[in-house]
Amino acid sequence: MMNKRQFLTNMGKAAFTLPFLPYSSVVKEGVPIKSYESKTEDGFWSRIREDYLLKPDYINLENGYYNFIPTPIMMKYIEHLKMVNYEASYYMRTVQWENKASVRDRLAKFVGSTPEELVITRNATESLDLIIGGYPWKKGDEAIYALQDYGSMKDHFELMVKKYSIKTTVVDVPNNPESDEELVAIYEKAITPKTKLMMVSHMINITGQILPIRKILIWRINMEWKFW
Ligand SMILES: Cc1ncc(COP(=O)(O)O)c(C=O)c1O
Repeated sequence: MMNKRQFLTNMGKAAFTLPFLPYSSVVKEGVPIKSYESKTEDGFWSRIREDYLLKPDYINLENGYYNFIPTPIMMKYIEHLKMVNYEASYYMRTVQWENKASVRDRLAKFVGSTPEELVITRNATESLDLIIGGYPWKKGDEAIYALQDYGSMKDHFELMVKKYSIKTTVVDVPNNPESDEELVAIYEKAITPKTKLMMVSHMINITGQILPIRKILIWRINMEWKFW
């Protein structure tokens, strides 16, 4: 399991090793990235802090809603954007697929999956809505999500209700559960032989409640044997 510090260090190193692209040799941009290595814990986090340009007027405690990206990543992003705009169709018709495959392969290595298991999307909403909207729904199929889940995905499930006449079961996750088993039981009760898709957040963003995914999954797998 990768810890937060290791993850951020790898992210920094990844920024160093982005593919060399012809545009970089024509237009020089960005600043060299300073090392993230540090002898002390505070030194490491101060180095991470340096990568963020923060507006001094307020203390930003909200990292969701709008994800502000570290300056070196933003610079690299802008550089790539300009490069693609500069090379235009030539880039698109020649190396874009190769470059995308190379990014996917390195990302797969980074997260510990095979490249085939990985799809790069623009954000969490697109990823989840692709699954929710891409399922081959049939009338009467059932889906489960929680009242406390994120709005965009709940909306997409409800769109499926309108489009394909499926049924959604909305569970209510308590703020102060007594045990994991209490949470498992809530999902357990909602599952029927018609359940095709279940959305369970690892952590509910409004309460911070961590859900026992593994236990819910194990229960679901056991149930599959009973249903079919
Ligand atoms: C729990 C949860 N899911 C999904 C999202 C949406 O993420 P994205 O902007 O990557 O689509 C958010 C955004 O804050 C969130 O808090």
